[in-house]
Amino acid sequence: MTEKAHAELLDEVLSRYTESPNPRLREITEAAIRHLHAFVEEVDLQRDEWFAGIQFLTAAGQKCDDTRQEFILLSDTLGVSTLVEMVTHDGTEGSTENTVLGPFYVPGSPARAKGESMLVDPDDGDRVVIRGTVTDIDGNPIAGATLDCWQNATAGFYAVQQPGVQSADNLRGVYTADTDGTYEIRTVRPVPYPIPSDGPAGDLLKAHGRRWMRPGHTHMWVRADGYKELITHVFDEQSDYLREDAVFGVRDSLIRKFRPDEDGELATTFDITLDRA
Ligand code: BEZ
Ligand code: FE
Repeated sequence: MTEKAHAELLDEVLSRYTESPNPRLREITEAAIRHLHAFVEEVDLQRDEWFAGIQFLTAAGQKCDDTRQEFILLSDTLGVSTLVEMVTHDGTEGSTENTVLGPFYVPGSPARAKGESMLVDPDDGDRVVIRGTVTDIDGNPIAGATLDCWQNATAGFYAVQQPGVQSADNLRGVYTADTDGTYEIRTVRPVPYPIPSDGPAGDLLKAHGRRWMRPGHTHMWVRADGYKELITHVFDEQSDYLREDAVFGVRDSLIRKFRPDEDGELATTFDITLDRA
């Protein structure tokens, strides 16, 4: 195929979208078409390879159900979810960085008192404390901000992955910042864990010799009236895989060291700065 023939084909395809009544949909569709055409041309995509791609996407769709979203997992492992987070968040200089939501968030976690442990089940892991202050960009405390938290158990799994093994509310809870903006969470030290790898997204990682581990982290979804929501993690500085997170979610600004505090508890400070809505 000559370059001219391709240019003509692309022009013709794009010309069919000029009457679109939805300008944003048109912009996205046209860009997708341009990039897909450029991709096929760049790699000289053959018919059997195109069909292998179709089969891969079909298998990804078939793997999806109410609790499994293989396309998001694929997007995560290609770095696309993190890019979308970066583009969407658009935070002010100085506000806390965000990162991926992940598939293990379950709404409706129980309210927990300041300092309460969100560990419900027996667990061999180190007990840790995460404490800090929620403020606005000028350092004013945000009383009543809620911190919806979730993490895995030392066995490596989230409660939602092990119904009947873990209690449904194990290692999840909603904390509320005090009048001075402070909060305190007791939990176990989060451990590295494998992302689900028994589907097409995992097959692709394995085909490239990539690993499917995430470093230890605690998730937080922070909300306060008048402020942008923040979906973030606290990463353990001593965890493995910080430099090879399967989903590219690590931000240096979110890594913290646990060290003994004055009461001998392993603790870290994670102050949170929210952007005004
Ligand atoms: C998580 O951190 O829970 C997660 C994020 C992306 C993919 C899989 C798991
Ligand atoms: Fe996680």
